[in-house]
Amino acid sequence: MNQPARKDSVEQLDQDMAGKNLSGYWRLGMEGLPDYPVTSVEPCLWKWQDIYDSLVRAGEVISLENSERRVVRLVNPGLDRKHAFATHTIQVSFQYVKPGENARAHRHTPAALRFVIQGEGGYTTVNGQQCVMEPGDLILTPKLTWHDHSNDGDAPIVWLDGLDFPLVTALHQVMQERFTERRQPIARSSEDVMSSLGSSMRHGLPLNDFFHYKWRDTESALRALAKTPANRDRYDGYLLEYRNLVNGGPTMTTIQCAVQLLPAKDEMESHRHTSTVMYHVFRGRGATQIGEQRFEWQKGDTFVVPLWYAHRHMNSWADDAILFTMSDAPALKALDLYREES
Ligand SMILES: [Fe+2]
Ligand SMILES: [Fe+2]
Repeated sequence: MNQPARKDSVEQLDQDMAGKNLSGYWRLGMEGLPDYPVTSVEPCLWKWQDIYDSLVRAGEVISLENSERRVVRLVNPGLDRKHAFATHTIQVSFQYVKPGENARAHRHTPAALRFVIQGEGGYTTVNGQQCVMEPGDLILTPKLTWHDHSNDGDAPIVWLDGLDFPLVTALHQVMQERFTERRQPIARSSEDVMSSLGSSMRHGLPLNDFFHYKWRDTESALRALAKTPANRDRYDGYLLEYRNLVNGGPTMTTIQCAVQLLPAKDEMESHRHTSTVMYHVFRGRGATQIGEQRFEWQKGDTFVVPLWYAHRHMNSWADDAILFTMSDAPALKALDLYREES
């Protein structure tokens, strides 16, 4: 007697394939893909007072002898708290080093940048180059460059750290090494490198690694840009990008840094892009409409505009506002994923 043919089903097929480490495309629900990119990163603003209070308290209870760094990280409410990142591509945190302290020398695959907020007498050493930290300075520690931070001054120093940590994590490339000694030896100063820059460029001499953008240079370039109304961008006001001096490309492979001046009593237009941008308010105050929400900001605050959210900046006050920004656009451009529209 013939056995009746077993009637197969999708459920039975899925179950049998799962046992063989196989899965059907039909399980992905690809028919329902969105017609624009969607992120779980939420628009969010972190107040300076909350960050600063946490840093000062950490200064009391966290020692640099026991902790690699004294850092307070921004956590986006839309992301998994276990990873505690500000966006899906960029980690932003604030670091606090008290007088006489040193954050030991190490290097890692995540690239980092430091934007100095307050304090004098501190310095970061990058691959033997001493970068004295003054408010508004931008200091880069690209992938696998040795770096340590010291404060020889009389007051605590505070700076913003931006890293491509989430991106490097997603690529399973995170690693870190400690230097043999707590501080690395200093071979030259960034001022030495800056003073030889002109002749190096004119005469085609090899350019030393360039890690340090002084605020005095940034501010004078930004003010010069803002003197000519034709330079005003409809969406970003007067925008000045930090370029890689050695290759003319973005600030770092994965992060583009910029400063933007939003003139007093001025309103920008709305646009959106596939890059995600972190903003830190260096001077002044204003507001930014992000999707359906409006965020009022002032000096010291930090906020995020997630990808593909329409956004518009406004400054209704009597003083110009200056924002320091970090964007993941270089990573998206390298992957041919960058798009924008107004
Ligand atoms: Fe580090
Ligand atoms: Fe934008």
